[in-house]
Amino acid sequence: MNSDPLHQLYTHYSQLPYSQRVLYTCTLLVLGLAYLFAIIYLFHSYSGRDGGGNTLTYQDIVIAYTGSGKGSRIEAALRGPMSSMLPAEEAATIIGWVGDGANKDKYDASVKPILDKRCMTCHDGSNPHLPNLNGYDNLKKVTERDTGTDVFTLVRVSHIHLFGLTFVFFIMGLMFSHAYVRPVWFKCTVVAMPFLCLVLDVSSWYFTKLYHPFAWVVMTAGGFMGMSFAFMWGVTMYQLWFSKPPAPVVEREMTNPPTIISR
Ligand code: HEC
Repeated sequence: MNSDPLHQLYTHYSQLPYSQRVLYTCTLLVLGLAYLFAIIYLFHSYSGRDGGGNTLTYQDIVIAYTGSGKGSRIEAALRGPMSSMLPAEEAATIIGWVGDGANKDKYDASVKPILDKRCMTCHDGSNPHLPNLNGYDNLKKVTERDTGTDVFTLVRVSHIHLFGLTFVFFIMGLMFSHAYVRPVWFKCTVVAMPFLCLVLDVSSWYFTKLYHPFAWVVMTAGGFMGMSFAFMWGVTMYQLWFSKPPAPVVEREMTNPPTIISR
């Protein structure tokens, strides 16, 4: 199995002209940097949604795609820390208004007077640390129910991911195809893995909305994609510059020397 013969068209990095090896190296360096930034961005925007620290958890992913399952911020505040700021029936009026869709007419008639009387001493916008509840547009921001990333945002991010990462892994796989890795089925799996993961990952964003445990698929697929990236990166860089040409390649060059040996 480990002695799969060399394919007729296979060339190892050591047989490539220097210009091409330099091109591969530069591409690897910048792709590596890009991946690093992608990971920083990922953790920055997803971790901690579940109230936990900087680790990225199953719950973070579920919240990102389906919402926290809680009502609006204002409802949570009125039932919790702000409940002492107003009589219960006034709180009920506001909560009822939010539940009915928070429309403008009823705001002017019954909600604004309550807020002006009970909330504006602190929430008139003068304190940057508190949500500004002054005026309909500001208030609207805390009345929205958290239902997670909406489908149109997902569609936008999906097409960017599918186009972008296909290019990344095509380039990566093409460079990696010069690596000497045995058995051949393993090498092929490493090349195919990110594409499979990409499709699983992107489709699971939508499936998570329907059935939460798909968040596990999102995480696992992302993990495997990262692993094949790291593997291809490492092997390519190592075999480009640090390892000796593999024995079968040397043997083939001896028995069947190329006509031009200049670099
Ligand atoms: C005495 C000052 C004061 C008054 C009056 C007040 N609040 Fe607050 N409010 C705060 C402070 C301080 C916080 C931030 C700390 C917290 O979340 O407990 C806050 C936080 C909030 C939040 C954000 C909660 C979150 O999601 O972080 C909402 C919404 C809110 N208040 C609504 C109201 C409403 C509605 C009223 C009037 C019925 C009101 N507040 C009256 C001081 C006030």
